[in-house]
Amino acid sequence: MTALLPPSSRSDIPMFRALDILSKVNEMDAAGADIRRLGAGQPCFGAPQQALDHAMQVLRDDPRQGYTEAIGTPKLRERISRYYTKYYGASLPANQIVVTAGSSCGFIIAFIAAFDAGDRVAVITPTYPAYRNFLKALNVEIIEIEGSREDGYQPTAKLLEECGEKFDGLIINSPSNPSGTMIDEDELEKICKWCDKKGVRLISDEAYHGITYGKKAATALKYSKNAILLNTFSKYFAMTGWRLGWVAMPENLAVRGKKLSENFFVSAPTLSQHVAYKVFDHIDVLDSYVALYKKNREILCNALPEAGLPDFTSADGAFYVYADISNKSDNSVDFCARMLSEARVSTTPGVDFDLTRGHQGIRICYADSTQNIIEACERLKNWRL
Ligand SMILES: Cc1ncc(COP(=O)(O)O)c(C=O)c1O
Repeated sequence: MTALLPPSSRSDIPMFRALDILSKVNEMDAAGADIRRLGAGQPCFGAPQQALDHAMQVLRDDPRQGYTEAIGTPKLRERISRYYTKYYGASLPANQIVVTAGSSCGFIIAFIAAFDAGDRVAVITPTYPAYRNFLKALNVEIIEIEGSREDGYQPTAKLLEECGEKFDGLIINSPSNPSGTMIDEDELEKICKWCDKKGVRLISDEAYHGITYGKKAATALKYSKNAILLNTFSKYFAMTGWRLGWVAMPENLAVRGKKLSENFFVSAPTLSQHVAYKVFDHIDVLDSYVALYKKNREILCNALPEAGLPDFTSADGAFYVYADISNKSDNSVDFCARMLSEARVSTTPGVDFDLTRGHQGIRICYADSTQNIIEACERLKNWRL
């Protein structure tokens, strides 16, 4: 019998626990367990109804739904470009935008356009785990810099200068998954300038822009001509399963972005691009979703101390808090598993986000309905570990 050939070593990346837990919770729910979901990071809402009605009409008019331009329809890219002008007061020409199947596909384009195998790219921990795993699969070396609790686990130009590491790229994410914390605009400007001065390519993952509860998030586009921006229709725009996002490329990388996109993906989902175009007309609906997240955040942050978890991040944006569980457990995987089976509440263990300190933290997502968040909080308050 022929032996099975081994897989490549670069494909040996860790599992994405949040999604693994989502599958488990789906299974438990299907079996009748009544779980409250504070695990996976996705809105409880769908796209605004008018955008969905538009999708139905588009399907009736053109059931074929062929490929679009590799970098996205000109109409949608122009629409995204106008959004930058209006929302940030920043100029992003449509020909520098590559529409992708979720920002996850955008990462491949951004990372390959920016880095070669052997380059070194820094992330601040705790961090969104896919960055690390994408980079590993591309044979890019990952430099993990520990973020401090005082700085909300976000980078500062001082930290980058003083960390004693040399790197070719830096990934930032503000508001952050998993902590919900943000980088102040002044600090972002300093980081952008530091990166440009040092020849470090900045990758700014702006996936949670629009979901903020005080100050608006600032875009790196305003402060660096070299930064690559990632964004998505999955979070603020509430189109998670439509799989659509975009990359904003620096002027001199736009053609690379196009060539990578057409070869790797041909084009992003066509119907999704029609919905995304319309969704920009319903910003009021999207903002009403943010108002609900804000209410949920308050309910959760009031309940956590009563549930014995008094130490958690400031949660200025996105829909997460990162809570310290070191007073309860030294194993976040076990802690989350017990919370799921005993309290019937799902959360995500910190080891997904931080390989060294992750057993001391868990990520809690509050993007579910307010009723479910209230119920989840009651369960946590009554849960005795
Ligand atoms: C920080 C961050 N970036 C990117 C993504 C990927 O989103 P998508 O591929 O749905 O656009 C996520 C998803 O949770 C995220 O939290």
